Amino acid sequence: MPSNPSLQPRLHSSPLASGGTPSEWVRRFADLLPSGARVLDLAAGGGRHARLLAGRGFRVTAVDRDAAALATMEGVAGIETRVLDLENACWPLDGECFDAVVVANYLYRPRLAELFALVRPGGLVIYETFMLGNERFGKPSNPDFLLRPGELISCLPAGWCVIAFEQGEVERPAMIQRLCATRSAEPGRLPRPV
Ligand SMILES: C[S@@+](CC[C@H](N)C(=O)[O-])C[C@H]1O[C@@H](n2cnc3c(N)ncnc32)[C@H](O)[C@@H]1O
Repeated sequence: MPSNPSLQPRLHSSPLASGGTPSEWVRRFADLLPSGARVLDLAAGGGRHARLLAGRGFRVTAVDRDAAALATMEGVAGIETRVLDLENACWPLDGECFDAVVVANYLYRPRLAELFALVRPGGLVIYETFMLGNERFGKPSNPDFLLRPGELISCLPAGWCVIAFEQGEVERPAMIQRLCATRSAEPGRLPRPV
């Protein structure tokens, strides 16, 4: 902590103090959530998206196996945290239902079907993570953690509709895949242009 108190406000408002800068993809599609929506931030880490969403008035459940990361959200209004292992034989979110599930920089293929099942009819998945090709730039480089081309679309269950999908190289540099989809047969509203 800096000894000069005039530095402290800047530190507190820095991306690090708030779990990091939220993804533009999540920020953009969060616009589609109805007021008061109940949102799951899956593998939330330090909660950059949980904080963004709670700041917009949504009721957020942030789950992760890292208790210390979740503890940084203690006392943040609108966020409930749960320490969960999402890769256990027993799925810890069985029977739960959310208006939206947000996932960033996390992939565990064996639970993708359960993840989509957490969304109520008419709700959203907002997903962004690394894809094959990212190994050229660094980590993650294990193919278990890298989506295959088009994979997020191809694993959407029946009865879902794609709102937006992108894949490719971004400036960081990194190879990224992003999906926003609704559990509905009809395309939904699009977010405002940024
Ligand atoms: C790269 S971080 C992403 C954090 C956050 N979603 C973000 O984008 O800032 C990956 C997160 O997945 C969590 N994670 C990895 N394996 C997990 C598991 N088996 N159960 C729950 N969380 C897990 C880690 O603890 C870590 O917080």
